[in-house]
Amino acid sequence: MTNTGMQNLLLGVTGGISAYKSVELARLLVVSGARVRVVMTEAATRFVTPLTFQAVTGNPVRCNLFDEEHEAAMGHIELARWADQMLIAPATANFLARMAHGLADDLLSTLCLACSVPVSVAPAMNLHMWQHAAVQQNLSILASRGVNILGPTSGEQACGDSGPGRMLEPVDIMAALGSLSNRGMFAGKQVLITAGSTQETIDPVRFVGNRSSGKMGFALAGAFVREGAEVVLVSGPVVLSTPPGVRRIDVQTALQMHRAVFDNISNVDIFAACAAVADYRPEQPEEQKIKKTSERLVLGMVKNPDILAEVAALEDGPYTLGFAAETENLAENARAKLLAKKLDMLAANPVGDNLGFECDDNSLLVIWPGGEKQLPVQNKRKLAQSLLGVLGQQYQVHVGHTKGS
Ligand code: C5P
Repeated sequence: MTNTGMQNLLLGVTGGISAYKSVELARLLVVSGARVRVVMTEAATRFVTPLTFQAVTGNPVRCNLFDEEHEAAMGHIELARWADQMLIAPATANFLARMAHGLADDLLSTLCLACSVPVSVAPAMNLHMWQHAAVQQNLSILASRGVNILGPTSGEQACGDSGPGRMLEPVDIMAALGSLSNRGMFAGKQVLITAGSTQETIDPVRFVGNRSSGKMGFALAGAFVREGAEVVLVSGPVVLSTPPGVRRIDVQTALQMHRAVFDNISNVDIFAACAAVADYRPEQPEEQKIKKTSERLVLGMVKNPDILAEVAALEDGPYTLGFAAETENLAENARAKLLAKKLDMLAANPVGDNLGFECDDNSLLVIWPGGEKQLPVQNKRKLAQSLLGVLGQQYQVHVGHTKGS
């Protein structure tokens, strides 16, 4: 269970169908060691009863600003002072608008003004509402005031539509809060990761691809979040679920991956290139499906940009970690690649004998300009953690040098 490091958490619940998930969220928060007090809007009580939250948190639930009994026990200003952190989940479009415009017409909106602690919101609404310019502008206002926007995610919605607007799952909200709570080896660091393979279009139904599963990159993304980093994961086509707390951008081709990386590279502290990017792409993808009329088919290919090498060449760029899958001469090839691409660190893995692509286990030879470390064969999740241990040490050395220079 993620320990969010929080003590007193004020959980605001507003009136959306995903309010039922906030009961589980409240339970997870309590299990993680937080003291939780719930404040519900009137609309939220139409979906879940205050009694349910009271049973889960062990604390009385407040719904009304003008409740004499509750105000006598803990007045709303006292409640605002009590909180170390505030989380609104779900946050409806209406509530986000009221927050953005500073309304204080019920207890929860009043508390949003009275609390001077970090505030996070987990929006939840229909995809068309989410995409509406009014909602997006309200979110920009809130983000510019330092409100943490957690999610939403995409998928099936209660109304039958499918797309962005689903509230993050409670475990994902927990992970995001954990990474915001400023703890861990990479607390407050921005990390950008590429993962998976790329698919280079031949014609509308065919592509050139490779066997990378994306497991290592996804495991690394999860490990970074658990160590407090904010992680953006640019992923090629994979069949993996996004690790909790990770912002994922899906791409298909190397050129799309290149663009997604450079759109998100500013302020990144660490760039980890785990993706098996296709070195070449068909020069001229056919607009129509190629017919099998001739005996031979020659595919003209052109080189793709080397995303990692370009990031490593940036002035004041991030710390760079590359990967190299090798079928022979692992150590020599790896060291040559570290130098050629001017990387800070390179993790080389042997491919073949049930290691490397498409499998759960791997070993890594981790090298950097001044040393190396062999990480033995293990599950990719554990391997990602071991790799972060090595990376954490070398990154500290790097930051020390950069500051000293
Ligand atoms: O040169 P090679 O492809 O073996 O290098 C592997 C490393 O470079 C990996 O970290 C991979 O993600 C990255 N790479 C890249 N863009 C490419 C090719 C490789 O970022 N076009």
